[in-house]
Amino acid sequence: IAPLKVGLAGLGTVGTGVIRLLEENSALIARRAGREIQIVAITARDRTKDRGVDLSGYRWVDDMGELATVDDLDVVVELVGGADGPALTLARETLTNGRALVTANKAMVAHHGAELAALAESKQAALKFEAAVAGGIPVIQGLRDGAAANRIDRVYGILNGTCNFILSTMERDGLDFAQVLSDAQAKGFAESDPSFDIDGIDAAHKLSILASLSFGSVIDFGGVEARGVRKILAADIAQAKTLGYRIRLIGLAEIDGDNGSANIFQRVEPCLVPLSHPLAHVIGATNAVVAEGNFSGRLLFQGAGAGDKPTASAVVADLVDIARKETGPAFSMPSAELEKLPRAASAHR
Ligand code: HSE
Repeated sequence: IAPLKVGLAGLGTVGTGVIRLLEENSALIARRAGREIQIVAITARDRTKDRGVDLSGYRWVDDMGELATVDDLDVVVELVGGADGPALTLARETLTNGRALVTANKAMVAHHGAELAALAESKQAALKFEAAVAGGIPVIQGLRDGAAANRIDRVYGILNGTCNFILSTMERDGLDFAQVLSDAQAKGFAESDPSFDIDGIDAAHKLSILASLSFGSVIDFGGVEARGVRKILAADIAQAKTLGYRIRLIGLAEIDGDNGSANIFQRVEPCLVPLSHPLAHVIGATNAVVAEGNFSGRLLFQGAGAGDKPTASAVVADLVDIARKETGPAFSMPSAELEKLPRAASAHR
C-alpha cells in the first residue's frame, strides 16, 4: 500500500515532536497503520530557526497556504495555532480540497469546529483533533468511539496543565500565584499568550469540545463561563487543605433535561475538590477528564496534558487512524444530527 503522505504546518515544540516521533517509532507505526506514514512537505513562519532536528530531507513550502494544494499529499497537520488567521485558512482549504486535516488547535476547533466538521463531511475528508484536548490522553477517541454507546450527562476535569502546575506548586512551596507563573512558562507548556491559561480560556476551549462530544450538541464555546486562577492566594490553598479540600481549576459541562427541552451548562472555575475525589490527586502539568456514561459508569482519563512528546503522540495517533482509513464524523455524530441546545437559564447554581 502507498505510504500516507503528510504535510506539516508549524514547527514549534509539537511539530518537532511529531518529526522525532515518526523517526523514532517509524517501523512500529508502519506495522500498526498498515503502511508507512511519511512527512513529505513542511512549512513554518521562520525557515532559518534552529529547531534541533534535521529538516533537510523534507520539502520546504514557503507559503503556508500552499500546503493545502501541494501535489499528492493525503493529510495536512496544522500546528500553527490561533483560532483564525493562517491556521483557519489552511484548514478550510485542506478540507475543501478533500484532504484530511489533523490539528492540535483547540481554539480553532472551539470556534469553528461545527463549520469544519460540516465541510469535512461534505468532502468525505477526515477531520481529527485528538491533540487539541488534554495532550497525550486519548480522550477524544475515548468519548467519540469508546463511549459511543452511552448517554453522557456530565463531563468534567482538569483541562489546563499550566494552572494545575501553578496550583500544585503554590501548595507544595507555600508561594503566591505570581511567584509560580514564570516557572510554569519556563517549563514550556504555557500558551504563547499565558492569559489563555490562567484566565481559563484554554480550558474553556477544551471543555466546549468535550461537551459537544459527550452530549451530541453543536460546539458552543461562547456558552462557557470562564474564571481563572489569578486571584488564588497561598492562604486560600492552605485554608482549603485544613478543611479537607484542594483547589483545582475545573471545567464542568452538564446537560439538563431530555431531548427537546434540554439545555447545557458549561463552566470553568477554581473549585474546592474534596481529598476523597481522584481529581484532588492530580498533581503538576497533568490533565484528567471524568465522563459519566449511563452504561459504562464513571470513566476517568488521566495523563500528560501538554508537552512535545505527549501532544505528538496524539497527533500521530490521528495519522494512524487516517492511514487505516478510519473515517466517520469529526464529533460523535454527523454534524446534521448535532443538537443546538440552549444554555442553562441560570449559570449560577
Ligand atoms: N497551555 C496548555 C496547558 C497546553 O497548559 O494545558 C496544552 O493545551
